Amino acid sequence: MSGAAGAAGTERLALVTGAGTRVGRAIALDLAARGWRVAVHYHGSGPGADETVAAIVAMGGRAQAFRADLSSPDGPAGLIEAVHASCGPITALVSSAASMVCTPVGATTAATFDAIIALNLRAPFLLAQAAVPRFTDAGAIVLIADHMGTEPWPGYVVHGVSKAGVEALARHLAAALAPRIRVNAVAPGLVLAPDGMPPGAVARFVEDTPLGRSGAPADVADAVAYLLEAAFVTGEVLHVDGGRRVRP
Ligand SMILES: NC(=O)c1ccc[n+]([C@@H]2O[C@H](COP(=O)([O-])OP(=O)(O)OC[C@H]3O[C@@H](n4cnc5c(N)ncnc54)[C@H](OP(=O)(O)O)[C@@H]3O)[C@@H](O)[C@H]2O)c1
Repeated sequence: MSGAAGAAGTERLALVTGAGTRVGRAIALDLAARGWRVAVHYHGSGPGADETVAAIVAMGGRAQAFRADLSSPDGPAGLIEAVHASCGPITALVSSAASMVCTPVGATTAATFDAIIALNLRAPFLLAQAAVPRFTDAGAIVLIADHMGTEPWPGYVVHGVSKAGVEALARHLAAALAPRIRVNAVAPGLVLAPDGMPPGAVARFVEDTPLGRSGAPADVADAVAYLLEAAFVTGEVLHVDGGRRVRP
């Protein structure tokens, strides 16, 4: 049996959050291409989620879109219940939805701090917690972290702290949910520049990356697919960052 499979012959269902746009969509499309049925979560990007579903159906796969505000206390559990009610037991959960908000020290409110933590850190925990009873026999969770979880960026203290928390969450959940459910994280470097990131900033980032280029959403999707199949791997953080952690 593969790392995230149910009984032989059963369809594998992956819930991917934030799959109406960008990296989340790339993960959803990649899993569909590998034969997974996909629950496509979105919040504001309804048309984007429809496009993700249509692309999966066009490749012969099965997918359905589900809307949820994951920053609300009840949003994560509501999403899991909706997916389970429509699609049945879940084989994999990929938590990709997040914000990246600038939080200058000296100008960041408690409300901003709480909102970032609610979406980036609390939601992955609440999703995992709600998913446990809804998983197939052998489930797997992949959390999408960020190189900023280990690499301090002065303008993004709260984002970095939330993503450091995501890495810790992967380790703690892995211990709490073993042996039935494996939990790992992928920590990307720059794979898709945020809207409005100046070209000069992208160039400086690339210069500062040992492999000398930015990555692509497909690099994250490949890492997610690996971790979903890696039956003897749990509690790991896979850094997909062009080597930023080994800069001299
Ligand atoms: N892009 C990169 O180079 C990069 C680098 C390092 C780490 N990452 C991580 O990779 C993941 C995806 O990155 P990305 O660049 O694709 O992110 P993004 O463009 O900022 O997309 C964020 C996603 O989060 C969802 N979202 C935002 N607020 C939400 C809410 N309140 N409730 C539910 N969903 C909400 C959005 O859904 P809607 O649009 O439907 O509202 C969207 O799909 C994130 O965890 C990010 O931190 C990305």
